[in-house]
Amino acid sequence: MPKTIILGIESSCDDTSAAILVDGVMVANLTATQKIHEQYGGVVPELASRSHQANIIPVVHQVLQQCGLNKNEISAVAVTRGPGLMGSLIVGLGFAKSFAQALNIPIIEVNHMQAHVLAHFIDDPKPTFPFLCLTVSGGHTQIVLIEDHLKMSILGETLDDAAGEAFDKAAKMLGLPYPGGPLVDKYAKEGNPDRFSFPIPAIPSLNFSFSGTKTAILYFLRDQMKENPHFIQENLPDICASIQKNIVHILLSKLKKAAQETGIKEIAIAGGVSANSGLRNGLIELGEKKGWNTYIPQFQYCTDNAAMIAITGYYKYLKGDFAALDMTPLARWEI
Ligand code: KG4
Ligand code: ZN
Repeated sequence: MPKTIILGIESSCDDTSAAILVDGVMVANLTATQKIHEQYGGVVPELASRSHQANIIPVVHQVLQQCGLNKNEISAVAVTRGPGLMGSLIVGLGFAKSFAQALNIPIIEVNHMQAHVLAHFIDDPKPTFPFLCLTVSGGHTQIVLIEDHLKMSILGETLDDAAGEAFDKAAKMLGLPYPGGPLVDKYAKEGNPDRFSFPIPAIPSLNFSFSGTKTAILYFLRDQMKENPHFIQENLPDICASIQKNIVHILLSKLKKAAQETGIKEIAIAGGVSANSGLRNGLIELGEKKGWNTYIPQFQYCTDNAAMIAITGYYKYLKGDFAALDMTPLARWEI
């Protein structure tokens, strides 16, 4: 029987990524990250689109080379249709459409947030259904109930900033370059998380809010800097550890509530912020206390990558769920 070979393409934000999945097994996953945004303190959409344009063909070419495949062997191309930055999505989608049309193969539309969750199906151990996933990225913060690979619903989400955005904005206030989340994590490892405290929002539902944390950090730093202009340099690890503790606490307390309300003990995390050591360790600890089976993605599958697009594409391929070549990108798209 011929093999099912899926080419995954991801370009929703500032990472251009391509991956190859053969009969459900990941054989190559390559990502070109865009350093250009560092100096601007955030992703500049127009610069992101231009970098995607420059990167997409070399990245696909290299990923094919890496696994010794010819493009004519590919069964289908799976591509992120949204949510994301419109210009960035257009590049990936435009490339995927041309590729599918030229090779006369199906094109599969993939929801980026659904793909973050399905990253758990790339390797073992895989969660069993139903499970809960806390999906935390630069643009989203969601608690998702997953009943089947392609059947998901959102139980709670952020009312303002996403968790990654909270990390990045806090980092920016501390003078750290974009994306600041990984740097806050790095400094937090050497700091005392109990040195400073920030407010926990009192929201009764499974929704999140990070705007209070952001404002509290801003005022806190402003007041401290008035007294000591070197406050940040002198206390960076303790500040980072205390901010991280606050964000992780907000995330895990809602996850705990969702588990309690649904009675589900299969619990996963996904998205860029699931690379955070405080969140990873906090989930393991909480899982042991609560008797949960916890699932934490490998680092390479936390932040944006095409492997998760390819695996989602694979499940859709098995169902014959193909998209039309005239589909348009969706900047917003609920799972
Ligand atoms: O999923 P992702 O790569 O892109 C989006 O879909 O948004 O997530 C990127 C976000 C950024 O906000 C970044 O700062 C955050 O994930 N992030 C982290 C860590 N690694 C990435 N935040 C905290 N700690 C980390 N180790
Ligand atoms: Zn993402």
